[in-house]
Amino acid sequence: MNAGKPLTIVSQNEKILSLMQRIEKIAPSDSSVLLVGETGVGKEVFADYIHRYSQRRDKPFVKVGLAAMPADLLESELFGHEKGAFTSAHAEKKGLFEIADGGSIFLDDIDDVPMPIQSKLLRVLESGELMRVGATRPIRVDVRLITASKIDLKLLIERDKFRSDLFYRLNVVPMHIPPLRERSDDVPRLMNYFLENYGNGKPLPVTPRAMSALQRYSWPGNVRELRNVAQRLALFAEKEIDVKDLPAEIAHSGGLDVLLKKCQTCFYEDAMSFSQVMACLEANLLKQALAANQFNQSQAARHLKMSLSTFRDKLKKHSILLSDSL
Ligand SMILES: Nc1ncnc2c1ncn2[C@@H]1O[C@H](COP(=O)(O)OP(=O)(O)O)[C@@H](O)[C@H]1O
Ligand SMILES: [Mg+2]
Repeated sequence: MNAGKPLTIVSQNEKILSLMQRIEKIAPSDSSVLLVGETGVGKEVFADYIHRYSQRRDKPFVKVGLAAMPADLLESELFGHEKGAFTSAHAEKKGLFEIADGGSIFLDDIDDVPMPIQSKLLRVLESGELMRVGATRPIRVDVRLITASKIDLKLLIERDKFRSDLFYRLNVVPMHIPPLRERSDDVPRLMNYFLENYGNGKPLPVTPRAMSALQRYSWPGNVRELRNVAQRLALFAEKEIDVKDLPAEIAHSGGLDVLLKKCQTCFYEDAMSFSQVMACLEANLLKQALAANQFNQSQAARHLKMSLSTFRDKLKKHSILLSDSL
């Protein structure tokens, strides 16, 4: 669970860059940081960055994946135990907090921590002391706390699943890391970075069409998913990466799934009729085909596998002008 080599943050996005600047400002202080973001957005990468910018950088950095830890082992893993504290405790054992002493501890998936452990964490944070399981005397620890959550902890507080007093302790510096779909300007840079990493020196340019499909895709698994896709592409690609090389859901559904979502909004929120939604979808597909083919009508018609005259009739029906943008 100790840190290996430093992780790199690759980004040109304004929000990410300003988060990095904020980290550089707050890292030297000992304040607790709560990183919130969907899975795969880079919470661990940011935790690493905070530790490296802090005065504790030469001290231990202990990462703890709380979701992966069985609840009954959690307490002794975090706080250690004395010999004989329970049947399998044949020797005394330091917990992760003690191992992190003087440095930082990163508690990932804090939203998965059961209530009883939350109370114990709170006690450690308030007193700066911990009790090993089965111990009678407390041990002082000096640890900088960085936590990560996949969801807004206030929602859990409302459902009585998270202690509000612990939340305020953790949330001294809150940082929200946006999902990749809200920073598609980062996709090309991240893609090229991972392709270079996995390509073993083999240059793997991505065609502009493939790159725009990658940028349109919604990346539910965020940067982790992008990294895995890059790894597969680097393995199989010959010399360049085109749309045909992309996984089907990225190559085909990118444009359409965005479009369908818009239609869904129209349908449910604006209460459009069925025929209005269908007309809207058709009009948007025509506009998209035009935009994807530099407004060349014959090419766009071929793209949609319809004759040029049908295509023109439909443009007229929907009053689409060639200058219409999406
Ligand atoms: N901005 C970034 N630059 C480079 N690599 C990144 C970036 N964000 C995430 N990664 C990589 O993506 C993967 C998932 O990131 P991670 O920090 O584990 O996400 P989370 O903890 O939010 O689930 C890791 O391999 C990480 O190194
Ligand atoms: Mg993680």
